[in-house]
Amino acid sequence: MSTVASSYAELAKESFLPQRGKIVEIVDMTAKDRYFRVELEKPLGHRPGQFVMVSVLGVGEAPISISCGPSNDNMLEMVIRRLGRLTEVIHALKVGDEMGIRGPFGSGFQLSDFYGKDVLFVAGGLGLVPLRSLITPVVAEAKRYGTITLISGCRNPAEELYRDQLKAWTDAGVNVIRLVDGTENMPWEFGVGLVTEPIPKLKLDPQKTVAALCGPPVMYKFVIAALLGKSVSQDQIYVDLERRMKCGVGKCGHCQINHVYCCQEGPVFRFSSLAELPEALR
Ligand SMILES: Cc1cc2nc3c(=O)[nH]c(=O)nc-3n(C[C@H](O)[C@H](O)[C@H](O)COP(=O)(O)OP(=O)(O)OC[C@H]3O[C@@H](n4cnc5c(N)ncnc54)[C@H](O)[C@@H]3O)c2cc1C
Ligand code: FES
Repeated sequence: MSTVASSYAELAKESFLPQRGKIVEIVDMTAKDRYFRVELEKPLGHRPGQFVMVSVLGVGEAPISISCGPSNDNMLEMVIRRLGRLTEVIHALKVGDEMGIRGPFGSGFQLSDFYGKDVLFVAGGLGLVPLRSLITPVVAEAKRYGTITLISGCRNPAEELYRDQLKAWTDAGVNVIRLVDGTENMPWEFGVGLVTEPIPKLKLDPQKTVAALCGPPVMYKFVIAALLGKSVSQDQIYVDLERRMKCGVGKCGHCQINHVYCCQEGPVFRFSSLAELPEALR
């Protein structure tokens, strides 16, 4: 086989062949969101912000965010929301059962873009799941960065994800601001409001601040406006647009904005690179 043909075969093998993932831990995070820790045959070698395709034989395959930081071990962490046919079946799996895992896919975040900066993370709902893959390595090497702030919001206290993790980051010195849209009469000791609301009150040095956002599409417009209002530069705001996608692998066109396929060139973009694509944030 020629060198070109053999490297294509290698690439195709990596992209199209699932590896076996054995479930080693399951935790119920909310009534519909379940955490899975899966042991793979070989390490993923992923960057923060990338995703995998998760499959169950005879049922189907779906894109799911990688929720753990980069590492050399064989473990993959994900949080999967029960929505339809495939995710119902995944929720019925038990520790010891297997799923297929392909990837990693997508562009992801480059940690070096954040070195030496004050880092602000803004997560809405399920957006905390992919953002955790970036927050984890930043907190683990906090000396490389300036101040670290996380604003994390969800609809109500019962929908909050990664409660123990949020507490651990707070204990590690991260300024974690936990918010709900409303308490709906449930016990809640943190703030009430939208994730945009704390931004004007934050002490931000616009020359030194870099922000990473992930949440529902409606969140981006208002969070970006608040950051620009604090003079944070457009090229220091990163948005994760995975919520615009369907197949995640360049097949369905669902994510296409003009000439850009978010699942191929994204899901992570600098806001400055989206200036020509106002539709991206609708
Ligand atoms: C890059 C990427 C990363 C993702 N990461 C995660 C993750 O970490 N955790 C997670 O739980 N889900 C994630 N999703 C969404 C996940 O892929 C879908 O929920 C899954 O495909 C649903 O499959 P299903 O067969 O269970 O439901 P289906 O029967 O296909 O759909 C059930 C219902 O969900 C809606 N739906 C399906 N896909 C989406 C979607 N992408 N966004 C909004 N609504 C949808 C359908 O319109 C339908 O109403 C991600 C999607 C993408 C593109
Ligand atoms: S999500 Fe299907 S082509 Fe990008």
